[in-house]
Amino acid sequence: MPTPLIALYPGTFDALTYGHLDIINRGARTFDKLIVAVAKNIAKTPMFTVEEREEAIRAEAGHLVNVEIRAFSTLTVAYATSIGAKVVIRGLRAASDFEYELQMSMMNRQLESRVETVFLAPSPQTFFVSSSLVKDVLLQGGDISKFVPPSTETMLREKFRDQIVSIE
Ligand code: COA
Repeated sequence: MPTPLIALYPGTFDALTYGHLDIINRGARTFDKLIVAVAKNIAKTPMFTVEEREEAIRAEAGHLVNVEIRAFSTLTVAYATSIGAKVVIRGLRAASDFEYELQMSMMNRQLESRVETVFLAPSPQTFFVSSSLVKDVLLQGGDISKFVPPSTETMLREKFRDQIVSIE
């Protein structure tokens, strides 16, 4: 029997958007097993704890039988190797993502040449979505229901309830 092809989808997921979920669904359809891994990213100051971010992903993707949700605090390639993942997947939304993503993929290849980065094109509906834009829209009283799943919207509204501007 061929060895199952395991892919790792690493990210900060702060907050989880339909864009991330789109990549998770595509990854789950494409690979035998998908590990979605929340980074304890030292370069960012996340709004949500690692546990909250894991929980948010579990609430929306926990039903996918070949998907596991975990957290990691090492180099992405080291984590990929430790779980037997030969592929790291990342969404490539626009030209603005390209330079950053290419740089990361090349660095990752220098660090561990046995791990390949595969870029997945997002759906047109999520092309422009990012976590910070969603937060911005929410704080200014805008409707974010098209960009994040209901469980994440609830978490965001709870977190920022004193700061959301009313536009009524
Ligand atoms: N849909 C919607 N938004 C998306 C998206 C998609 N498909 N893909 C990325 N984004 C957005 C996120 O919402 C986030 O937006 P924000 O900047 O407004 O908050 C941004 O793009 C990036 O988020 P994310 O995908 O979570 O990735 P990241 O760049 O924060 O995380 C890691 C990158 C975790 C993969 C990287 O930091 C890493 O590998 N860390 C581990 C340490 C390491 O190995 N370092 C060396 C790397 S070479």
